[in-house]
Amino acid sequence: MNRLRVALLYNLKYNVPLQPDAPPDALAEYDTNETVQAIENALLAGGHEVIPLEGDDTLVEALREANPDICFNICEGHKGDAREAQVPALLEMLGIPYTGSKVLANALSLDKAMCKRIWRDNGLPTAPFQVFCWGNEPLAADLSFPLFVKPLREGSGMGVNSRSVVHDEAALREQVQWVIRTYRQPALVESFLPGRELTVGLLGNFLAPGERPPSDLYDETGFHIFPVLEIDVSTVAEAGGLYTSHVKADDPLAPRYLCPADIEDALAAELKQLAVAAFRAIGALDVSRVDFRLGVDGRPYLLEINTLPGLNPTYSDIVIAARAEGMDYETLINEILNLAIERYGLLWDMGFVPRRSFCYC
Ligand SMILES: Nc1ncnc2c1ncn2[C@@H]1O[C@H](COP(=O)(O)OP(=O)(O)O)[C@@H](O)[C@H]1O
Ligand SMILES: [Mg+2]
Repeated sequence: MNRLRVALLYNLKYNVPLQPDAPPDALAEYDTNETVQAIENALLAGGHEVIPLEGDDTLVEALREANPDICFNICEGHKGDAREAQVPALLEMLGIPYTGSKVLANALSLDKAMCKRIWRDNGLPTAPFQVFCWGNEPLAADLSFPLFVKPLREGSGMGVNSRSVVHDEAALREQVQWVIRTYRQPALVESFLPGRELTVGLLGNFLAPGERPPSDLYDETGFHIFPVLEIDVSTVAEAGGLYTSHVKADDPLAPRYLCPADIEDALAAELKQLAVAAFRAIGALDVSRVDFRLGVDGRPYLLEINTLPGLNPTYSDIVIAARAEGMDYETLINEILNLAIERYGLLWDMGFVPRRSFCYC
């Protein structure tokens, strides 16, 4: 394996410039020293040189100085409606290769409604929904109570709490207004899905016709899909059966993580196939985690895709799923890096010309 100069780009919790009126869970998306250190150690163990850098407005200068071959990107971005796409956009501008999805897929993944529109257009199952920008829009005719209210563009369960499930007009208006006011963005309202909470992590990329998978880890279509993980939050009384930011950030070991989930083989196969289809539909790359819930009909519905899934070595869902199948953290991190290296053809010519272009039509 060639030794590369890898810049590890992150946004640490304690570096986030918080507004005075920021909500209590405003830092939920950002990373801890523990996660950054663990990724750095994994990359070092993979034989690379690692240059850790905070992904803020000092990044252009820092990258010029560091002169990396590639970046391992986990930046959430500090502000803006496409914050997770900002560092990828910068790296595109500077011509520096990086791991994971590019600008558009990261922006789509953050905007849950845009993603759902694309999935719906691809015939993939996702709950009916409506975006509220002001809060007083009339409720769409195809939506009926109970409904679920969450911020349009957050992650890690931000803005999800026991009042997120609404049973009448008054509660809907109150929660929608609360989301718009507190998170300064539209509220996404969708049918409440009362069933089990399942998530599927995957690694890989689509192969061109005739192209071989990068290694034996990947199937003939170019993917490695981890076993389905069920997150059973029913034991966490405060969460009311929801995977809230409180549970994710403050009490991540409280839910029961069941992997492989105790579900029918046919359902597991369907979830995996849907996860790849959801990934393909938005043009994601290298790694993602796709969240589902079962509806009243027992069928799976796509909630969202995380093109920058949490990579905490202990409690992040994709790490738990990898561990359950016997893949250690170091391997997981280096597989993500290797997929990007492969995509850019870095080991072929150490240049920046992609070995293959990705077409999603
Ligand atoms: N339509 C829904 N019905 C029931 N629960 C939901 C629904 N949408 C979200 N949730 C709950 O809220 C959690 C967070 O929602 P999700 O869409 O995955 O956003 P994120 O993880 O980015 O905050 C889910 O894991 C689930 O527990
Ligand atoms: Mg989620």
